Amino acid sequence: MSNETETVFEPQIVAFCCHYCAFAAADLAGSMRLQYPPNVKIVKIPCTGRIDVIHLLKAFEQGADGVYVAGCLEGNCHYLEGNLFAKKRVQHLKKLLDEIGVGGNRLEMYNMSAAMGQRFAEVATEMTERVRGLGPSPVHRRQAAGNPESPDDAVARVSGASENPGERAELADAGERNTVEV
Ligand code: FES
Repeated sequence: MSNETETVFEPQIVAFCCHYCAFAAADLAGSMRLQYPPNVKIVKIPCTGRIDVIHLLKAFEQGADGVYVAGCLEGNCHYLEGNLFAKKRVQHLKKLLDEIGVGGNRLEMYNMSAAMGQRFAEVATEMTERVRGLGPSPVHRRQAAGNPESPDDAVARVSGASENPGERAELADAGERNTVEV
C-alpha cells in the first residue's frame, strides 16, 4: 500500500540569505555550476539582522521542514552587527523549537563570504541531508492528522498568529520560484 510519507522524503528548506554574502555565494555557486539540492528555496534579505523570530516561525508554519539563516562572516556584516543579532535570535528560537516539539535541529545559522560558492553548496547539502534524516516537520504531520494540539498551533501562537498576506505570499512564492526578495 503506498503512503506518501513512506516514499523518498524530499524536505522543503527555506534559506534566508544576506544579499552581500550568502546570496552572492549562491550566485557564485551557480556560476561555478556547483551542484546542490533543489530543496533549498532562497529568500534574499538585505542583512541577516533584518530577520526576526517571526519570519523564521512563519516559514515553518507555511510548510518548511528546515530553515537556515546565512549571513556574512562574523566581523564582516555590512551593517556591523546584524549577523550577531541574527545568531542570538536563531539560538533562542532553536531552544523554543525544541520546547514546542518542532525540533531545534531544523533551524541553523551559517556564515560565509561572497567568495564561498563551494561553502554555499556544502551548507545547502548539509541542511538538506540533516532535515531529510529528521523526516517531515511535525507541523505538517499534525496538520495532516488534523490534530488540534499540534506544534503548528504552537508555532502560530508563538509567532502571534498574525495574518500578513504580503509576507505569506512572499514565502509561498519562495516555494514556487526558489528565490524571493524581502
Ligand atoms: Fe550580511 Fe549583515 S550585511 S549579515
